[in-house]
Amino acid sequence: MARIPQSFIDEVLARTDIVELIDARVPLKRAGHEFKACCPFHQEKTPSFYVSPKKQFFHCFGCGAHGTAIGFLMDYERLSFFEAIETLAGQLGLKLPLEGAAADTSRKQGRSRLYEVLEAAAQWYRQQLSRHSGALGYLRQRGVDEDAAERFSIGYAPAGWDGLRQELGSRFSLKELEEAGLLARKNDRVYDRFRDRIMFPIRDAQGRIIGFGGRVLGEGAPKYLNSNETSLFHKGRELYGLYEVRQSRQSLDRVLIVEGYMDVIGLAQAGIANVVATLGTATTVEHLQRLYRLTSHLVFCFDGDRAGRRAAWRALEQALSVLSDEREVSFLFLPDGQDPDSYVRQAGSEAFQGMLRQSTPLSKFFLDELARRHPGNTMESRAALLSEAASILGKLEAGALREQIIDALALETHMSSAQARKFLAAPARESAIGRAMKVDREQSVRLTPVRTAISLLLMYPQLFADISAQKILPDDDVPPGVGLLRSLLEILYANPHMTTAALLERWRGRPEQDHLSKLLEWSDVSMEESRARKVFLDALDRIRQQSASNRVENLLALARKQGLSEAQKRELNTLLRARRASGHR
Ligand code: UTP
Ligand code: MN
Repeated sequence: MARIPQSFIDEVLARTDIVELIDARVPLKRAGHEFKACCPFHQEKTPSFYVSPKKQFFHCFGCGAHGTAIGFLMDYERLSFFEAIETLAGQLGLKLPLEGAAADTSRKQGRSRLYEVLEAAAQWYRQQLSRHSGALGYLRQRGVDEDAAERFSIGYAPAGWDGLRQELGSRFSLKELEEAGLLARKNDRVYDRFRDRIMFPIRDAQGRIIGFGGRVLGEGAPKYLNSNETSLFHKGRELYGLYEVRQSRQSLDRVLIVEGYMDVIGLAQAGIANVVATLGTATTVEHLQRLYRLTSHLVFCFDGDRAGRRAAWRALEQALSVLSDEREVSFLFLPDGQDPDSYVRQAGSEAFQGMLRQSTPLSKFFLDELARRHPGNTMESRAALLSEAASILGKLEAGALREQIIDALALETHMSSAQARKFLAAPARESAIGRAMKVDREQSVRLTPVRTAISLLLMYPQLFADISAQKILPDDDVPPGVGLLRSLLEILYANPHMTTAALLERWRGRPEQDHLSKLLEWSDVSMEESRARKVFLDALDRIRQQSASNRVENLLALARKQGLSEAQKRELNTLLRARRASGHR
């Protein structure tokens, strides 16, 4: 498989200017040390999207989008990591040096084998569909037309235990098929996971197939079988139909969230294309954040029955934590026993659009549902209502919506607004702008010496050269995070000219990536390098002091427990003497 050498990625990033790159797509305005614009990843009227030439990093205070030049291209132009590098290299007039492959087939080989397996499987399922009249008949009976089947690449996995394995076995290993989630295993027997099912490929936001949902023809359990979670497929993150919605590229005044594959397909066929479905899981905050990059208005579609209302309430709780005054959520409740697919087929597109226009705003659903949950007109029921409201409203960002809801709750519970505010005093989540303004203040509280050192090193990688041999960090008894700091330093020792963005890209896809991005965001762009050096070296001193004092504590504990060796006693004495000399205790 072709890989791009790390040194090439470093070079591309070192020679790319993120400000130029973004400015060509989203015109930027200067704002002090940085540049700003209205965020291209969510809808807003006042700019909260910032690009820092110093950090070679972008960050939106509104929706939280952030990243390097590579990340920007991936998100904005919907490219894979490989394609983003290819694009940047192309702009610089560089050719991709691929390890172990000819350049002309580079694009394909750059994608991982798993994507290829899944793509091949989808193609085979697609072919099988045209050969099985039973499957075709089922789709016809469900009203799925050929356009829709094509658009969503619907296929069919035939009955039998090893059709797929036979077909793909010559091109892919058993291990690859299994890692792609296409096989199941029981008592050492390995067989096709999907048998005699209509197959719905699930794509990621870039259009690559990452898994499948398979429906039985008619009755049977489970009705839908989904790919297991694989390295590519995470149900809590992905949304069925998201790629197709993004493809349309028009600005969307709203996006609908439904529950099923068939709902997405049924609505698309009726000309309602801005629809995504969760994959048999409840909506997560991550889902919502991805969707708010496309639109400022989300509409949840649920059954009008009790289960539907309960699901809507859970969705509301998730939504509150990402809502702001520029964003909107509403709920569309369908007649009992109907889902969007059955309703639109029965009542037609016009009727569905009509219901959509009359969907219930979040605030109204919130107040109605609270009243329904706490019936009776007693002081007790009103108190209980207020108490439940308080526990939930804490998630909502401070702002005009929250104030209005509180006023309405006051009215509902026969209190003055001031009284209601007292009960709903659970601190509101801070607004994005409030957060942005507070970063400075927070830094002194939340920036430990380790975090300070990491954030400065990210902004000024060349600082690593200031750590002389004797100032090297101790190995044991160090405060948390030193491991990460040490990895950064090691990379810099090996690659002395590395830039901020290149450094950050080394952590792409790893758990520490977000943490590092945050530390970079917190670093103060107005800090000059000379001052940064002082602060950096001071932070390292403090890490060493912290480690020494951890070491003292540990040695003292050891002394109490089992006594110390001669060497340990000498070490303890030295540490205590140093501590007295430096005036620390
Ligand atoms: P529904 O039972 O509402 O199915 O499940 P549906 O989409 O209306 O399907 P049809 O119309 O009967 O064909 C909604 C979603 O829940 C997940 C699937 O993602 C499905 O689309 N689900 C449902 C499962 O994962 N497994 C199941 O057994 C059932
Ligand atoms: Mn259905």
